[in-house]
This record gives sequence, structure tokens and C-alpha cells, in this order.
Amino acid sequence: MATDPLRVLVTGAAGQIGYALVPMIARGAMLGPDQPVIIHMLDIDPAAEALKGVRMELIDAAFPLLKGVVATTDAAEACTGVNIAVMVGGFPRKEGMERKDVMSKNVSIYKAQASALEKHAAADCKVLVVANPANTNALILKEFAPSIPEKNITCLTRLDHNRALGQISERLNVHVGDVKNVIIWGNHSSTQYPDVNHATVTTSSGKKPVRELINDDNWLKTEFITTVQQRGAAIIKARKLSSALSAASSACDHIRDWVLGTPKERWVSMGVYSDGSYGIQPGLIYSFPVTCEKGEWSIVQGLKIDEFSRAKLDATAQELMEEKQLAYLCLN
Ligand code: NAD
Ligand code: LMR
Repeated sequence: MATDPLRVLVTGAAGQIGYALVPMIARGAMLGPDQPVIIHMLDIDPAAEALKGVRMELIDAAFPLLKGVVATTDAAEACTGVNIAVMVGGFPRKEGMERKDVMSKNVSIYKAQASALEKHAAADCKVLVVANPANTNALILKEFAPSIPEKNITCLTRLDHNRALGQISERLNVHVGDVKNVIIWGNHSSTQYPDVNHATVTTSSGKKPVRELINDDNWLKTEFITTVQQRGAAIIKARKLSSALSAASSACDHIRDWVLGTPKERWVSMGVYSDGSYGIQPGLIYSFPVTCEKGEWSIVQGLKIDEFSRAKLDATAQELMEEKQLAYLCLN
């Protein structure tokens, strides 16, 4: 039986993440190999010509799953009827800038786009904010689009999650697919807490805790954490541009697991609104370990949090509260 196409919005589609992301969506990496899609691309006037070029390339690639392309600089047209919205549009961080520096530019964009989504997107639209400061942009979007269910507004920390898996895999010389259940807590920033306390590796002799296999508490508490926290900055330093292919791929992972479900016994990290779990202020968009089923995420409950972790969870929550305050100051 033919499946109706889903409409997927990518804002900032003429930018570098957009350019990596739209072909992945058109190939089924986001919604599966049997799901046709119509891609909506939004960018701003100065990028209109480049956006036309991306549209031409999507057509030239003759993707079997791609049933249509909308390329526009009009937010209302871009948002009309979309089922999934991947919000990449904004100003990226440049070398030497902290995420806070891009705050004032980006939160006002997210306030405006909240209204466009609220008015024109499908009622059950799922939103993923990628643009930085990702958690706080998502928070602003949530607060200025009150009719979109708060469960439907999320931000990307899956890239950090994948980076943590990658670091463990390199250190232990095991395949990344055999490492699971790392957690990114908190903000998509240098205060995030990559936590391996519950992570395991599948080995030929069964499932083993990452802590036991690495057997180096000092490395896990220092270099591992800072490498994951600073990976975005390291990529900017090396490429003179922020991460794009890994960000696009992780955005596909985030939506795919949310819509199609997480694999058995595996959790992922998503920036979602806090319901007070793990003592995090309700309403903040905070990265938690989640499992997904039937299009709904749930925070993994009951994990033991030791003293070291507690301090890290609280520090990144504190930064998010400060970002929230700053965002409102920028909007006034
Ligand atoms: P880019 O500058 O290459 O592209 C951004 C695009 O957004 C540009 O084409 C720009 O014209 C467009 N844009 C600007 N204002 C817009 C608006 N109001 N509406 C629609 N489009 C608009 O940047 P990029 O490298 O693609 O990065 C995009 C964002 O993603 C940045 O904020 C970056 O910091 C962030 N990022 C987040 C993660 C994450 O893991 N959460 C990872 C990498 C990058
Ligand atoms: C990343 O994590 O690669 C991006 O958020 C870019 C950045 O600003 O660090």
C-alpha cells in the first residue's frame, strides 16, 4: 500500500548542515527507506540563490523517496503542513566565540519562527532545534508556540551522545555499534556532562560495563569528559567551520529514533523539556537519557547518580537557567 509522504522542514537549508542534511532525508536516513518525503527548505533573502541551487541538486539526484521540494524565503510557506521541523537556520559559532555570543542573534529568530510553526505546521509536528544555543532556542520556541505540545519540541544533543560513543570505541578499539547507553546530561555546550556510569560494551564474552573495561577513573573523569565537551570547538579549529556532516547525521538519528523507536535495551540522549526528573528545574530544555516508542520519548528513570555526577548535572542546569535569563534580556 502506498504511504503518504511526510513533509519535513529544514530551516537554514542553504547552509552547510542543510546541504549535508537534505540528501540524507531524501535517501531515507531520517524516516526510513519506505517513507516518501516532501522537503521544505527555508532560508533568508541573501541565501535565496544558493537555496535555488540546493533545490536544483535535489532534483538532479533523482531520489526515489523524494516526492516534492518547496524552497522559499517565506516562513509561512515553509512551515505549511510540515510534520517534522528541523530548525538549523541561524548564525553559527565562529572560532573563539562561546555559544552565549550567538545568543542574541538566534533567540529572536526562534521567537519569530515559533509563531510561523504554531500557525502553519501540522498539529502534531515534531520539532528538533539544531541551531545554537540549541537548548535555549528550543526553550524560546516552546514558550512562544504554546499550542505546540511541549513534548514535541526538542533539541539536538545526539551529536554529543554519538561523540561520546566514538571516544569510548576509539579508546577500547571496539566497534562503535557495540557501545551503548552513554548519557549526555544538560546543555549542548561545554558544561554538558557525558556520563559513562551506565554504559556497556557488547564483547565476545557478554556485556561489560565501560568503567570496568577502561579501568581508568582519572581518564573518564577528565580527558574523556573534556574531549566530548570541547569536540565542537576542536572541529571549528580544524575545519574553520563548525561540524556539519556529523551534525546532519545525528539529526537524522534523533528524528529516526523518536519516530520509529529506540532499539531494545538502548537509550539515547535528547534535549527535552524537564518534568523535574533527576531534580532538574521543570520546563528547562535539558538533555536526558530517553527511550522512544510509538513516536513518544520518555526519560529513563531510576538511574543512580553519584556525588560527582550530581555536581555536573547541577552545573549544566545552572548554565541553562542563566541562558534562559539572558535570552529574555535579549528579547526585551
Ligand atoms: P551556516 O551558516 O552554514 O548555515 C546557517 C543557515 O541559516 C544560512 O544559510 C543562513 O542564511 C540561514 N539563516 C540565518 N537566519 C535564518 C532565518 N532567520 N531563517 C532561516 N534561515 C536562516 O551554519 P551551519 O554550519 O549550517 O550551522 C547551523 C547552526 O547549527 C548553527 O547555529 C550552529 O552553531 C549549529 N550547530 C549545532 C549543532 C548541535 O549539535 N546542536 C552542531 C553543529 C552546528
Ligand atoms: C558542535 O557541537 O559541533 C556545534 O554546536 C558547533 C559549536 O558551536 O560547538
